[in-house]
Amino acid sequence: MKVDLLLGLQWGDEGKGKIVDVLTKNYDIIARFQGGPNAGHTLEFDGIKHVLHTIPSGIFHEESMNLIGNGVVIDPVIFEKEIEKLKPFNINFSKNLCISRKAHLILPTHRLLDAASELSKGKSKIGSTLKGIGPTYMDKTGRNGIRIGDIELPEFLKKYRKLANKHETMIKSYNVDLQYNLAELEEDFFSAIENIKSIPFIDSENYIFNELDNNKNILAEGAQGSLLDIDFGTYPFVTSSNTTAAGACTGLGVPPNKIKDVFGIFKAYTTRVGSGPFPTELFDDNAKRMSKVGNEFGATTGRPRRCGWLDLVALKYAVKVNGVTKLMMMKGDVLSGFKNIKICTSYDYNGEKINHFPFSVDSKKIKPIYTEFKGWDEDISKIKKESSFPKTFMDYVSYIENELQVPIAIISVGPDRTQTIIR
Ligand code: GDP
Ligand code: IMO
Ligand code: MG
Repeated sequence: MKVDLLLGLQWGDEGKGKIVDVLTKNYDIIARFQGGPNAGHTLEFDGIKHVLHTIPSGIFHEESMNLIGNGVVIDPVIFEKEIEKLKPFNINFSKNLCISRKAHLILPTHRLLDAASELSKGKSKIGSTLKGIGPTYMDKTGRNGIRIGDIELPEFLKKYRKLANKHETMIKSYNVDLQYNLAELEEDFFSAIENIKSIPFIDSENYIFNELDNNKNILAEGAQGSLLDIDFGTYPFVTSSNTTAAGACTGLGVPPNKIKDVFGIFKAYTTRVGSGPFPTELFDDNAKRMSKVGNEFGATTGRPRRCGWLDLVALKYAVKVNGVTKLMMMKGDVLSGFKNIKICTSYDYNGEKINHFPFSVDSKKIKPIYTEFKGWDEDISKIKKESSFPKTFMDYVSYIENELQVPIAIISVGPDRTQTIIR
């Protein structure tokens, strides 16, 4: 009986989907606890690539239950499309998937509000995925939100209308040029609401209490990354939920003393999609190479991801905030062929050397201080055991482990399930 967490330690897209899929065989329940369709989690096996947005990444394993927890925000229209895409794969959704009644609904007007807010910000926009995440969490904390459980209640339509009307007034007040046809959007929304009813709605915290009493193992699947956390990320260029370990407690109803391992996942370099500070960002041929070889395009929006060297200052911070017990390093294969590889080990902050992630991560104030490593030429993507790795690659791995004082338990060398070395 235990709950383990798997969380991204950077700005998202670390490879969470792949590793959750690899680890699912050790768990009875895979549970998403925050975020929503802003997430894009990629899994690859048998030559097929799947991208999941709301559905937990354990869905391809018949024996596991997949729970969408109370901390998640759900767009029924996107959810319906996800289910549709998975239809050819013979998944028994009503048996292997369930949704917390306390999860909040993303309305079409939440998406419009997201767009209006971004338009009104102009150049200083967040670079949101425009899935309505911010406005939905605002309604949750503002105590105006509509939850999955409300769908079962007679007042649902009345509640919907009242909130949608309020949103329309808010959209107008932004005074931006946003064209939309709400009637059309609502048609899709209400049709999707009918469809989502085929998935069991449950009192998920109670389900979790019972399953823990029944000696079941739970893996909580994080979305986004620690540096996008609403409290600890590079605010305001963050998402609107707690992406860090504490989010799993509030987003599922898991007490902190039931959490055992915290798996922290990171790329061997750094990427970020959307706006906001990124101290180790590169604009040279190295960045182009990372982007091309790593296929660094957003799984949800298709936008190019910004690329740069590994930032150990930020990574140490994320390890501390989450209490990481095991690390997982992804995409080391992308760095093959780089003559030299750099790791940022401290910041020059307005002329002073600092080792911590400061309040204001302003790219104008921060200059990364690097330690340089010799690269490796070998293609490592087909390696099956640790002893076959080039020495320079293992030097890179050991350096990171020593600096972070946490073991790297998994090394991933490609997108496929099989390209995973468990140490
Ligand atoms: P997530 O949001 O954390 O699940 O990550 P994404 O799916 O958004 O992005 C990770 C991308 O890297 C996906 O395209 C994966 O298929 C791919 N990927 C995962 N692990 C590896 C790896 O070790 N090597 C390479 N080359 N690609 C990987
Ligand atoms: P996964 O789970 C990478 C980024 C957006 C934007 C900011 C706010 O796949 O790792 P939002 O739509 O939440 O209002 O956007 O956060 N962002 C992500 N970046 N991976 C994600 O999820 C992300 N989810 C949101 O690009 O900068
Ligand atoms: Mg992603």
